[in-house]
Amino acid sequence: MKDAQGRSLSPDESDTSDERKGLLAEEGEDDLDSVLHQTPNRRRRRCCSVVLIALILGAVFGLPMLYVGLKTSRPVADFDNQKLRSNGTHQFKKTALIVSIDGLRADYLDRGLTPHLLAISKKGLRAKSMRPVFPTLTFPNHWALMTGLYAESHGIVANNFWDPQSRSEFHYNRVESCWNSSWWFGEPMWETAENAGLLTANLMWPGPPVTSRGVESTYFVPWKDKVPLKEKHDQIMEWIDLPLEKRPQLIMAYEPSLDQAGHLAGPKSDLVDRVLKQVDVFAKDIHDSLEARNLTDIIDVVFVSDHGMTDTSHPEFIYIDDVLGDGFDELEHVDGWPAMGLRFSPKADSAHYLNILSEAAAASGGKFDVFTHETMPTRFHFSGNSRIAPIYIVPRIGYVVTDHVENGTGLNKGSHGYDNAQASMHAMFVAHGPFSSVVKAIQQSDESRLFKRLLSRPNKGWHSTSNDTYVMDTFQNVEVYNLMVKLLGIEDYAASTNGTAGFWDKFF
Ligand SMILES: *[C@@H]1O[C@H](CO)[C@@H](O)[C@H](O)[C@H]1NC(C)=O
Ligand SMILES: *[C@@H]1O[C@H](CO)[C@@H](O)[C@H](O)[C@H]1NC(C)=O
Ligand SMILES: *[C@@H]1O[C@H](CO)[C@@H](O)[C@H](O)[C@H]1NC(C)=O
Ligand SMILES: *[C@@H]1O[C@H](CO)[C@@H](O)[C@H](O)[C@H]1NC(C)=O
Ligand SMILES: *[C@@H]1O[C@H](CO)[C@@H](O)[C@H](O)[C@H]1NC(C)=O
Ligand SMILES: *[C@@H]1O[C@H](CO)[C@@H](O)[C@H](O)[C@H]1NC(C)=O
Ligand SMILES: [Zn+2]
Repeated sequence: MKDAQGRSLSPDESDTSDERKGLLAEEGEDDLDSVLHQTPNRRRRRCCSVVLIALILGAVFGLPMLYVGLKTSRPVADFDNQKLRSNGTHQFKKTALIVSIDGLRADYLDRGLTPHLLAISKKGLRAKSMRPVFPTLTFPNHWALMTGLYAESHGIVANNFWDPQSRSEFHYNRVESCWNSSWWFGEPMWETAENAGLLTANLMWPGPPVTSRGVESTYFVPWKDKVPLKEKHDQIMEWIDLPLEKRPQLIMAYEPSLDQAGHLAGPKSDLVDRVLKQVDVFAKDIHDSLEARNLTDIIDVVFVSDHGMTDTSHPEFIYIDDVLGDGFDELEHVDGWPAMGLRFSPKADSAHYLNILSEAAAASGGKFDVFTHETMPTRFHFSGNSRIAPIYIVPRIGYVVTDHVENGTGLNKGSHGYDNAQASMHAMFVAHGPFSSVVKAIQQSDESRLFKRLLSRPNKGWHSTSNDTYVMDTFQNVEVYNLMVKLLGIEDYAASTNGTAGFWDKFF
């Protein structure tokens, strides 16, 4: 029942992975239409008014003043990764730590149960939410965080899928596929850091131990379930306490317990609340241990999650065998969950079955959609790869695709994998460290500037909810690779990603 990386799981567990079970029913918290339809217009309008006001002001105050206003000096972050910095007793190089708390839905932070993550975000910053890639599953998203690529480009298009080129199946919890680097496209941030000559350490982050180019992290702790948080904390600190020449500058760590609780009991359960408090204390312990070592001005810490969680305790089933009739027997491969990629046998009339599916989707009144590579929504960035099945059924929140034999067996009370525009699928982002101080200083100096005040839109990527808390607008998780690369001062080595060029430059 876990996001295993292989090894410790028995093969028979692989067919009942938790991300395969479960589905459904969020009450009204996701308003897809408003997400999809309001933003562009609003943006355009704001943009126009900014330009207009700028023109008017330019005319009134004259260009010289505008120039002075824009030239005001900003605090600058220091990204030199070889420079030695002292914590008072020891020398350190620039170091960054990224911790993934699997399944921490963005709005869990508003439950009043995570005082420590919120305190860290107050000292540093947080995002309203972070948008995962589609499909909103653990392996596609942990690899998107590592590589900055959408699933179609990084190749891990689901937790389990068929690859027509190698004629073999990827299974997230079978070591023979998980540790076989040929599945994993793109360049993880630890490969980039190693290429730049930095030492790296990987504590169970989902992915292969060695990339297809033969690069491995300096230190590697393989996936194991039920490792106490204290052990993970101690391992991270052990790395940080290594002598300078052995100390990793990039540390990645992974924790699955909250996701497991969400699947088992659902996002609104006492169990989730209890585990949420535990991972919050984990975050505090990491922060406190860095503070005790006088390292908070040297080490940047980024807490993320991979996706959210939706309640699937009372799903409405869509029976695919009813929909397809005898076409059901023509299915050769079925990928993913809760979205479902279909491959019919070459002899079958797949165009005919696609027709049937599309008509059923239209008649369902919005219970599910059926896409081909051609009709897949562009925003999913989920078509340019032969590993993506030619026909994909994507259920809406509240619905589960199953058949009469399976009949929803193994269905969990919580699930994810749905449309990545849905708020309940969104992940968290909380960061603290020297870079966040610079971000805040810039923000504060910007706020105090006359021209900024006059020219700026009410929110240019930030909400200031109080004097010292800065909440970034929702952004996509493929930006995280570029953040880490920037924090480590290794942008010259950066691989090409699907992150937005200059995305972080506007913040610091
Ligand atoms: C903590 O580190 C800072 C530099 O980051 C240093 O100036 C200060 O003296 C250190 N404090 C102690 C108690 O060593
Ligand atoms: C790794 O997977 C590929 C298919 O993607 C396969 O061709 C190859 O034989 C596998 N290698 C090993 C060592 O299992
Ligand atoms: C500096 O870091 C080292 C290594 O983690 C630690 O042993 C030492 O106590 C720290 N120094 C201070 C002043 O906290
Ligand atoms: C299928 O599942 C539904 C809902 O859990 C249940 O009501 C129904 O009896 C099940 N049907 C069979 C054939 O098991
Ligand atoms: C902001 O700071 C001022 C002065 O320090 C204080 O009075 C006010 O309550 C603070 N506002 C918030 C929202 O924390
Ligand atoms: C994502 O990045 C990869 C690598 O640079 C590139 O090949 C691909 O076209 C990009 N995808 C999109 C949608 O821009
Ligand atoms: Zn996950």
